[in-house]
Amino acid sequence: MIFLEALRPSRSIHVFLHIIHLWHLFMALIRRPYPERHTISSYRDSPPPWRHSGLSVLLRKKMYGPVITVYLGLQRVVVLVGYETVKEALVDQAEDFSGRAPAPFAYKATKGLLISNGERWRQLRRFTLTTLRDFGMGRKKMESWIQEESKHLVDLLRENQPAPFDPTFFLSRAVSNVICALVFGQRFSYKDAQLLKLLFFFSTLSQLYNIFPRLMDYLPGQHHAIFREVNELRKFSTEKIREHQETLNPDDPRDYIDCFLMRLNEVEKNLVSTEFHHENLTATVLNLFLAGTETTSSTMRYTMMLLIKYPDIQEKMQKEIDNVIGQTRSPTMEDRKSLPFTNAVIHEAQRFLDLVPLNVPHYATKDISFKGYIIPKDTVVIPLLHSVLKSVDQWDNPWTFNPNHFLDHNGNFKLNPAFIPFSSGKRACVGESLARMELFLFLVTLLQHFTFSSPGGPESVDISPEFSSLGNIPRRYQLIAAPR
Ligand code: HEM
Repeated sequence: MIFLEALRPSRSIHVFLHIIHLWHLFMALIRRPYPERHTISSYRDSPPPWRHSGLSVLLRKKMYGPVITVYLGLQRVVVLVGYETVKEALVDQAEDFSGRAPAPFAYKATKGLLISNGERWRQLRRFTLTTLRDFGMGRKKMESWIQEESKHLVDLLRENQPAPFDPTFFLSRAVSNVICALVFGQRFSYKDAQLLKLLFFFSTLSQLYNIFPRLMDYLPGQHHAIFREVNELRKFSTEKIREHQETLNPDDPRDYIDCFLMRLNEVEKNLVSTEFHHENLTATVLNLFLAGTETTSSTMRYTMMLLIKYPDIQEKMQKEIDNVIGQTRSPTMEDRKSLPFTNAVIHEAQRFLDLVPLNVPHYATKDISFKGYIIPKDTVVIPLLHSVLKSVDQWDNPWTFNPNHFLDHNGNFKLNPAFIPFSSGKRACVGESLARMELFLFLVTLLQHFTFSSPGGPESVDISPEFSSLGNIPRRYQLIAAPR
């Protein structure tokens, strides 16, 4: 029996959340859209019908309180609802809530930064953040990689003229190539769709595995194929690491692997106990791929979907871009502050998509005293990003796609602290800067070169997500890219 209760004993209520949850998982597995397709209008401001789910129940924090216990089978999960509560946990009591919940699927597939705890997590996270900042961003190298990749993407779309096409694989290949450049120091041909197939499987099947790990081990099914493919990816990474080792020049590190190997060699020389060893290198490389590709490319796919749904918004972005950059020069991150409307649209697309509504579950690594409650050690904690990104207390019209959420009365960009699609605090996404750079540079470049539309017109575009359980995955759709 699964039930949900407010932590205050006087306000306990039973909700059959598990039925909704299992329904979502089932829908995700059979890979069909929801039984009814709903198109939401731009000026609605109530949860659309596809939102009347377990998540929306949790959103009603005034009814259940901002700290809720949900039982999934025997597993107790504490859900934190609303901006103030999520911030208090992730920022004000950051250390207490920095644990990562056990994830059987992920453990079986790969260990590493994303799902580790304690000293291993601390060392790998610090190293990855520093390497991404110094190696990638600091030297502007990342910016030039993305500019370069944007050109390949534009060429690919031009080749595809004039037929309508599904942009999913086009965008995923571009985004995964940026991670390839960061990690392996090279990009791959767009014809290689192997990694994308793997990531698609991951995004759907892992949800079921996490809830029924033992059962899933015995059941036949596609998830076994995923583990085989992860092993292929692991073999590929191991081979790349070996090549890097043979050609490493400590005076000129080429990528993430080189930086890791330098640290590993240093540690071996001094014989100290460390988390910098080959197993963690391979695992963290896989983490960066798995966490960095599907997330960013789905967000780009969704933003482009919103642009064909709302052509007037697309036109306004193009005008702004034409005025500031023109149609030939590659955009740089410096341009972002001169493009407030474009910046606002990208932020609003991320808020509205709410890609990771439940966050990646956290874990109480000790007894935590929080808002007058004790959250016992080993409790799974979900700081509900959905409840912040769609909060009526934080956004004028949370269920409406409206770039004005990020603009002041003078049309200047205005950040809202409740914009936390990457989460917040010690465990927040390490790829945030990279993802934001990719979203901005790729989308601006595409709008410089193409006007996008839908073969069936804006009315035919259904912007509700296809799966809405642990992730809001945008639907597949057809796109026309007309050269400008
Ligand atoms: C739009 C794109 C992205 C979104 C919305 C996103 C969102 C998130 C979220 C919500 C978390 C969990 C934070 C928490 O536990 O509190 C996370 C963690 C993580 N993300 Fe991202 N992410 C994106 C892109 C990326 C990219 C490009 C990379 C890699 C370069 C990446 C690597 C990671 C890693 C390694 C973690 C685990 C951090 C840790 O456990 O300490 N993500 N991300």
